[in-house]
Amino acid sequence: MKLRLMTFLALCLVLLACALTNVLFPERLANAQAKPAQNSAAPAAAKSSAPRAVSDLNQLMRSILFNNANVIFFAQNEDPAAVKRDAKPSGATDPLAGVYGGWAAEENSAMALAEAANLLNLPDRMCSNGKTAPVNDPEWQKYVEGLRAAGLAAYQAAQTKNMDKMLDASDQVGTACLNCHDRFRQRTRCE
Ligand code: HEC
Repeated sequence: MKLRLMTFLALCLVLLACALTNVLFPERLANAQAKPAQNSAAPAAAKSSAPRAVSDLNQLMRSILFNNANVIFFAQNEDPAAVKRDAKPSGATDPLAGVYGGWAAEENSAMALAEAANLLNLPDRMCSNGKTAPVNDPEWQKYVEGLRAAGLAAYQAAQTKNMDKMLDASDQVGTACLNCHDRFRQRTRCE
C-alpha cells in the first residue's frame, strides 16, 4: 500500500513536471505539435511537383515529336556531319547547325523521342477534342513502347555515325509514329 502511494506520488510529480515544461517552454509544445503538420506537408509538396500534362496531345506532337523526328529523318539521305555550323552556333535555331550539331544533334533528337514516350504516358493528357488521351489502352501502351524503342535504336545508330544505320532507324521511327496514328489518330481524334 505504501509502495502504491509512493508510485502514485511519483507519477503525479512526473505529470506536473511535464505540464510545467509546457508552461515554461511553450515553444517546445508548439514544435511538438508542428511536427505532424510538417510531416503531412511533405507528401503534398511532392505532389505539387509530380509529373502532369501541360499541353494537349496535338501540341505535344508539334512541339517535341514532329521536330525531333525530322532531325532523325534528315540523316536518311544527308550527312549530318556536312551541315555547316551557324555563324553563332550557340544561338542556332536549327539543332543540326548549333553547338550540339551534326551527329550530336542526331543523338539528342533520338533521346528526345525516347524520352517523349514518358510524356505520352501521363494520365491527364488531353486530346484536341477535349477527351482524355487513351493512355490506359494496352494498344496505346504498345505503340508508346514502340516509340521508345525506335528512339533508342536511333540513338545507337547515331552513335555509329553510319547513314545506312540511320536509314533503318528512321524507318523504325516513322513506323512507330504511323502505327499509333493508324489506330488512334482518326477523324474523331484520339479514338
Ligand atoms: C502513342 C500514340 C502516338 C505516337 C507514338 C505518335 N503519335 Fe502523333 N498523334 C497521336 C494522336 C492521337 C494524334 C492526334 C492528337 C489530337 O488530336 O489531339 C497525333 C497527332 C500528331 C500530329 C498532328 C498535330 C496537328 O497539329 O494536327 C503530328 C504532326 C504528329 N502526331 C507527329 C508524330 C510523330 C512525328 C510521331 C513519331 C515520332 C508521332 N506523332 C507518334 C498519337 C501518336
